[in-house]
Amino acid sequence: METMENIIPMPRIGDKAPEFKAVTTQGDINFPADYKGKWIILFSHPADFTPVCTSEFMTFAKMESEFTALNCQLVGLSVDGLYSHIAWLRTIKDKIEYKGMKNIEVKFPLIEDITMQVAKKYGMIQPGESSTKAVRAVFFIDPNGVIRAMIYYPLSTGRNFDELKRALIAMQTADKFAVATPADWRPGDDVIVPTAGSCGVAKDRMEHQDGMTCHDWFFCTKPLPKEQVME
Ligand code: BEZ
Repeated sequence: METMENIIPMPRIGDKAPEFKAVTTQGDINFPADYKGKWIILFSHPADFTPVCTSEFMTFAKMESEFTALNCQLVGLSVDGLYSHIAWLRTIKDKIEYKGMKNIEVKFPLIEDITMQVAKKYGMIQPGESSTKAVRAVFFIDPNGVIRAMIYYPLSTGRNFDELKRALIAMQTADKFAVATPADWRPGDDVIVPTAGSCGVAKDRMEHQDGMTCHDWFFCTKPLPKEQVME
C-alpha cells in the first residue's frame, strides 16, 4: 500500500540523479557513476512487446550513433524482466520491419526493473496513468550527474526523438557558449544573449557588436554558426 512514508519524492531539475545498481541487457551497471563525463538520456517505456514502444526503440536505436557523437549514452528501462527484454530486442532485430527500418539492433543498455525500485526513484510510476507500468519518461543527466531536463509522456504517445536530440544540443550549447536558445531553435539559428538587460542602456550602440541584435531591452540575440555548435 502506498503510504506517506514510502512515497519517494520525484527528482527535480538541478537535483543529483538518484543512484542505483541494475541488471541490463548489456550487463550490470552502477548508475550514473559508470557514465561520468558523459551526458545520459535515461528513458522509460511501459512494456516490452508493445507497438508504440517498439517504434520508439527502433527509432532510438537507429539514431544511437548520433547521440554517441554528442557524448551521450542512452539507457532504457521498463518494469519487465531481463529475459523479456532480450526476447523483445531479438524479435525487433529479426522480424520487425517498420518505416524503412529493419535489422535494428539495440546496443544501448535496457534496465530490468521488475521490483520498480528504479522507476519509483525516478517518478516513472504515475498511478493515475498506470500503477503497473512506467510512463514514457525522459531524463537528461549532464556529465556531472545532475538532472538537467525531464519530459513525461503518457502511454499512448510515442516520443519525438529529433526533439530529444535538439534539446540535448540546446543544453550543450547553453553550457559551452553561455547563451540560451529561443523557441524552436536549431543549430545555426541565432541564440539569446543572457545579459540582455545591458542592451537596454546601450541598445543603439550594441546593435551591431558581435552581430548582436536587440529586439528590445530584455531580448537580444546573436548569430552562432552551426559549425561552432557542432564542433
Ligand atoms: C505501446 O507501447 O504500444 C503501449 C504500451 C502500454 C500501453 C499502451 C500502449
